[in-house]
Amino acid sequence: MIEISHITKRFGPITAVDDVSFSVNRGEVLGFLGPNGAGKSTTMKMVAGFLTPDRGAIRVGGMDVAAIPVEVKRWIGYLPEGAPLYGEMTTRGFLQFVAGIRGFRGAEARRRIDSVVEKVSLGSVLEMPIDTLSKGFKRRVGLSQAILHDPQILILDEPTDGLDPNQKHEVRALIRGMSAEKVIVLSTHILEEVDAVCTRATIIAGGRLVSDGTPEDLLRRSRMHNALRLGLAITDPSGVVETLRAVPGVSHAEVTSQSDGRLELLLLPADDGPLAGPVSAAAHANGWRVTAMHVERGRLDDVFRAITTGEGDAGNG
Ligand SMILES: Nc1ncnc2c1ncn2[C@@H]1O[C@H](COP(=O)(O)OP(=O)(O)O)[C@@H](O)[C@H]1O
Ligand SMILES: [Mg+2]
Repeated sequence: MIEISHITKRFGPITAVDDVSFSVNRGEVLGFLGPNGAGKSTTMKMVAGFLTPDRGAIRVGGMDVAAIPVEVKRWIGYLPEGAPLYGEMTTRGFLQFVAGIRGFRGAEARRRIDSVVEKVSLGSVLEMPIDTLSKGFKRRVGLSQAILHDPQILILDEPTDGLDPNQKHEVRALIRGMSAEKVIVLSTHILEEVDAVCTRATIIAGGRLVSDGTPEDLLRRSRMHNALRLGLAITDPSGVVETLRAVPGVSHAEVTSQSDGRLELLLLPADDGPLAGPVSAAAHANGWRVTAMHVERGRLDDVFRAITTGEGDAGNG
């Protein structure tokens, strides 16, 4: 549905997007991750047809964005960064304005507006000026603008930025609800968001695409992937760490907390393999009473930092 090949965009001396290529298929929710200034918004503007690449090409539904930008915009709903709106308009007035621009008149326009108002739950604020709405409602108005023409492709630039946790949750639920029938590309620097809504995660840093895979692939690159947190009820902790280090598959063992008769440990796997089995066996063999055992999925934060700064450790492959 979206095919980006070797796009580059410069602003004077700054190369905002540097030879980026990727494609997105139907049914995918692609998370576009990266630190501030990485080139996320610039890339999205080019896909949405609001900026033209200096080099490279973008095809949407097989059509060249640069050659037929107006036709392509029919296929795309775009929520720009910060979701700019006309604050003096009422919600209804704004939706009527957007419907008009999209070429819908009369009953068709009313049908589209009713449908989007229902989908995004805007019924209670239809007659209110947009300036007087909460951030959460403003973002929903922004989203309704992007989906009014029922586009196949949604480009959402930081759709939850600046929202409180409940509002973030609502907007994510909306996005998930639309994901079955659309191609969605969203940018974020919130890693939990990628985990919550995306089927695929790309990371862009310094204008370049530096990683592309599922959120699970990224987690697998965390040194904490399949790490085991172990709680033991034990009065004499001496020798426990040494014993655990000798368990097959354990590359590292350390005590993370220790208090009257309780020991908490962190164990890292040698080759990504699950540790619960061999560690349980070792506990049993040594007569330790296990009070807690928790397998870590990994930390996107670690991986993100390692990939975008070259710091830290994305280790274990
Ligand atoms: N219109 C512009 N004029 C000059 N520089 C720009 C413009 N838009 C973006 N940039 C620069 O391009 C780089 C990428 O910006 P942007 O795509 O907004 O990054 P992101 O959305 O990942 O934070 C930044 O260095 C930014 O300052
Ligand atoms: Mg941006």
